Amino acid sequence: MLTVQNLTKVFNKGTINEKKALDSLSLELAPGDFVTVIGSNGAGKSSLMNAIAGVFIPDNGEISIDGTPITKWASYKRSGLISRVFQDPLSGTAASMTIEENLVMALRRGESRRLRWALNVNKRDYFRNELSKLGLGLEGRLTTKVKLLSGGQRQALTLLMATLQNPKLLLLDEHTAALDPKTAEKVMELTCKVAQSSKLTTLMITHNLEQALAVGNRTIMMHEGRIILDIRGVERQNMTIGRLLDMFEKASGVHMNNDRMMLAGTR
Ligand SMILES: Nc1ncnc2c1ncn2[C@@H]1O[C@H](COP(=O)(O)OP(=O)(O)OP(=O)(O)O)[C@@H](O)[C@H]1O
Ligand SMILES: [Mg+2]
Repeated sequence: MLTVQNLTKVFNKGTINEKKALDSLSLELAPGDFVTVIGSNGAGKSSLMNAIAGVFIPDNGEISIDGTPITKWASYKRSGLISRVFQDPLSGTAASMTIEENLVMALRRGESRRLRWALNVNKRDYFRNELSKLGLGLEGRLTTKVKLLSGGQRQALTLLMATLQNPKLLLLDEHTAALDPKTAEKVMELTCKVAQSSKLTTLMITHNLEQALAVGNRTIMMHEGRIILDIRGVERQNMTIGRLLDMFEKASGVHMNNDRMMLAGTR
């Protein structure tokens, strides 16, 4: 479904700040794969997502979706195929617009960058129905400005907006990290529900190792721009956090404990 081959990206090339964020990284996702991505700060996790989403063009390597090479596509051209949700609940929605205006924007994503304000009754019914699936009571608040919602409600709305157009690939970059534990759990539940019901292929970055093993069907660990572990199937079912950290140490040569890995996610 998603094929990434020999992806390399060096930032600030030739300067004292030169940094190889991605180092000949290859990754193949099968349709419906839900892959959790772990690794310490600066491992290249967000850079991988940025490359896939077209935030930058890689120095080397190829990215394709269902056999179509998209490596050189501008990010807006990819946005119909690829959706993202970030850590910050404020980043995914337009605060001064209402819930329904945000949803209209999401429907138009990938179609045109210009907004067309075409709200009709059918669309409202559709929005209400989709919002009710979140179980947060937002279906009765279509004309509420998004800035009045809580962080968890905004993140749930962002998730809905990200999946409204049935993208081929969903990219989640620590999307529950800024929420309180209870809300994070709720948004995670919704994430699994949405991914399953739409059979979405999903990549999810998390610093929570327990979550990384509990959610999805495959876990990859990154270090210095490369994938150093790729765990699935029975091996993953039997995996513990302790063993995962041991494997990380063996593969990377760096000692890491769970506290450090968890702390890395809270800046
Ligand atoms: N736009 C950029 N310009 C310069 N350097 C960058 C840029 N984006 C990322 N980097 C560098 O590339 C490396 C990988 O960064 P990246 O954000 O991908 O890490 P990460 O695994 O997502 O880390 P974290 O867990 O802290 O979010 C880091 O050293 C970072 O400073
Ligand atoms: Mg990151």
